[in-house]
Order: sequence, then structure tokens, then C-alpha cells
Amino acid sequence: MNKIVIYYSMLGNTDYVAERIRKETGADLLRISPEKAYPDKGFRKFYWGGKSAIMAEKPKLLPYEIDLKQYDLIIFGTPDWASNFVPPLRTFIEENRKALEGKKIAAYVCCSGAGGNKVLNKLKDFIGIEAFETEAVFIDPKERKNNEEEISDFCKSIGL
Ligand SMILES: Cc1cc2nc3c(=O)[nH]c(=O)nc-3n(C[C@H](O)[C@H](O)[C@H](O)COP(=O)(O)O)c2cc1C
Repeated sequence: MNKIVIYYSMLGNTDYVAERIRKETGADLLRISPEKAYPDKGFRKFYWGGKSAIMAEKPKLLPYEIDLKQYDLIIFGTPDWASNFVPPLRTFIEENRKALEGKKIAAYVCCSGAGGNKVLNKLKDFIGIEAFETEAVFIDPKERKNNEEEISDFCKSIGL
């Protein structure tokens, strides 16, 4: 089964999981980024990213190339920003709505606290599906390294 992880990561946690999925399942990766990068330090990081997520912005993305027809399973990876999925993913989904129709979709969220499930629900609603093939929430997995087993379980659940 051809699969790809499509994700945004500011601080490396969502990227850490994406790399693990690549290594353990052979999935392709597409890391998306907004044309205008969000500040990634101090208070400004929370202010601008949080505001953009709350306002459900759809920032313009840096050019990316993808042919979704090649893939049977799409895995979305997103950090939790103010209890929402990140704006760059909103843009990507909007730009690829037609190509995503009928695809199997899985997702994972990286967050610092509780609330990852809320993010998964919002993502599901935005895509317009009832359920993900499989889903997971990880707590700052790059820094804490305490989700190693859960990441492996997630990889198994999406198929090796
Ligand atoms: C703008 C912003 C808003 C955030 N809001 C939340 C939140 O509402 N709940 C939470 O648990 N973590 C929140 N976090 C923490 C991140 O979700 C968490 O550190 C995640 O692992 C970061 O993923 P990344 O390293 O791939 O960027 C927020 C971080 C940022 C930058």
C-alpha cells in the first residue's frame, strides 16, 4: 500500500514522528511550510501561531509537488495549536479537496498537554469524513521520548 505523511512541524516533534513512520513503514513524506514562516521563539511563537489557528487562516504555502493519485493512504500530522490543527494543513486540504475524496486517511497530533482528541475531531470535520483509518496523539515526542512504543504501535496500525 502506497502511503505518504503530509505534515507541518515548527519545533520538530511532528517531524520526529513522520521520520519514524518513514523508517518503520516506508511511507513517503511531504513537509509543508507557509510562505511566510511563523515566529518560532518565545511569546511571539504562541501569539502569532495561536492567533492564526484561532482565526482558521489559510496561509499561502511554499510550492510543493505531490500526485495524490499514487497513494492509497494519506497520513496527516499536525501540532496542536490552540486546540486546533495548524493553518498550513488547512490550506493543503483546501487545495487538494478533490484529490482527497475517497482516500483512506489517518492522522496524528503532537501536543504538550491534553486536548489532542479535540484536534483530531476538528480535522475530521474539516476534511469531511466520519473516522480516520487510525489516529494517535503524542505528547512532545521528540523532547520527552516517552511515546516510543505508541509511535511503533501507530506505525503497525497503518501497515508496514
Ligand atoms: C502556537 C502554538 C499553540 C499551541 N497550543 C497548544 C495547545 O492548545 N495545547 C497543547 O497541548 N499544546 C499546544 N502547543 C504545543 C505544541 O502543540 C507541541 O509542543 C507540539 O509537540 C509541537 O509540535 P512541533 O514540534 O512539530 O511543532 C502549542 C504550540 C504553539 C507553537
